[in-house]
Amino acid sequence: MSAPFDLVIRGGTVGTASDVFSADVGIRDGRIVQIGEALGAGAREIDATGRYVLPGGIDSHVHLAQPSGENIVMADDFESGTRSALFGGNTTVLPFCLQQKGQSLREALTVYHALADGRCYTDVSFHLIVSDPSPSVLGQELPALVADGYTSFKVFMTYEDLRLNDAEILDTMDVARRTGALVMVHCENEDAIRYLIGRHEVAGDVAPRAHATTRPVAAEREATHRALSLAEIVDVPVVIVHVSNGAAAEEIARARSRGRPIVGETCPQYLMLTAADLEGMDWEGAKFVCSPPPRDAAEQQACWRGIETGIFDLFSSDHCPFRYDDPAGKLNPKGRQSFRHIPNGIPGVETRLPILFSEGVMKGRIDLPRFVALTATNHAKVYGLERKGRIAVGMDADIAIWDPAERRTIRHADLHDGADYSPYEGIEVQGWPTTVVLGGQVMVEADRLVASTPAGRYRSRSLSALARR
Ligand code: URP
Ligand code: ZN
Ligand code: ZN
Repeated sequence: MSAPFDLVIRGGTVGTASDVFSADVGIRDGRIVQIGEALGAGAREIDATGRYVLPGGIDSHVHLAQPSGENIVMADDFESGTRSALFGGNTTVLPFCLQQKGQSLREALTVYHALADGRCYTDVSFHLIVSDPSPSVLGQELPALVADGYTSFKVFMTYEDLRLNDAEILDTMDVARRTGALVMVHCENEDAIRYLIGRHEVAGDVAPRAHATTRPVAAEREATHRALSLAEIVDVPVVIVHVSNGAAAEEIARARSRGRPIVGETCPQYLMLTAADLEGMDWEGAKFVCSPPPRDAAEQQACWRGIETGIFDLFSSDHCPFRYDDPAGKLNPKGRQSFRHIPNGIPGVETRLPILFSEGVMKGRIDLPRFVALTATNHAKVYGLERKGRIAVGMDADIAIWDPAERRTIRHADLHDGADYSPYEGIEVQGWPTTVVLGGQVMVEADRLVASTPAGRYRSRSLSALARR
């Protein structure tokens, strides 16, 4: 007689967004089919005694193979980026498919699928970036794509080549109102930033540390307030992504107190880095250039408070990797002349979960259910991944098994992304996802990739639970 399960994860401590309990997890045909004590035999068994059995991480803010300017190349394609994500305990990532000006969204998606399909080590699904909201994009393309399962899109209030003005944001939000899609907003005031960049360049202050001073908290706070107001006027839910400071977090809290359905997201860089990291650094500061920039110790504490108190629903990496010592990366020929030309973004998809586990759970700032909610369950709910982000019967068997005793020092040499540095080099963490299972298939075991093929699949998504309320 064949075993009742393909795989049994036995004797571990299961963590969900609400509970922590001892149980075996039985898996068949890629799904979780039973959770309980003393389950029957599996064709394969994993002894998880002394370890946590958690939903595989969902990183809903990742950039892979994204066009990033003339002669600039992102350090990760889908293969390296998802492999790195997998080693960091993730089983699903949501990268952005960027519409370039004049391009149709369908064209952008065709390119993106060609880059991703058959090459991913985690499941993937795409957000759209709307940079050219023409009447045909808003009237026909976007609604059709939402119906096809591309149910979220990001708009930018900054970056010369991506930003939308308020009228365009209102029109794009109106598509979300009509279709039930979810809008994500990058909140920084581009005109204020341009003004400050001009002042710095005139003064000859062009090294990377000026990046932070030209993108102050006030520019993010103002744009956050404006994005929330625009969403209120249109009457749609909105995701405020990569929040870096207390003032923007307060804007979210205030909008919620008016009854607005708002999702708040923050990222490891705002909990672990500050602008002071660049002091004494000359061009090496380019390794930390991302937007919004990390702030000071007080803002870092404010972001931790947001994690602890529920202002933030999502903890994502905003993995946006560029090689440092590379003419196609941070130190490109123009980037060596002014911080303005250093591509924005830092790597972090592999270190997101260990950092929050160690700094959050092990240091007692959050409990295990909150960790699971912030890193998996809420991402699935917010972005319409119905069979993901939970250890429950019927769910995809996407599981990370954590050794809470494992101590590591983060070294880029041990990571799997395509960059040539980690902004978290030298940070010590306790707890690591040592075994990762995707759709019932063991992918990583004892720090080795055991999957022979990139088994990740593209996943179309439902409407957000928020938009369906
Ligand atoms: O600096 C960053 N965060 N680059 C990635 C693009 C974005 O705005 O999310
Ligand atoms: Zn952004
Ligand atoms: Zn981003």
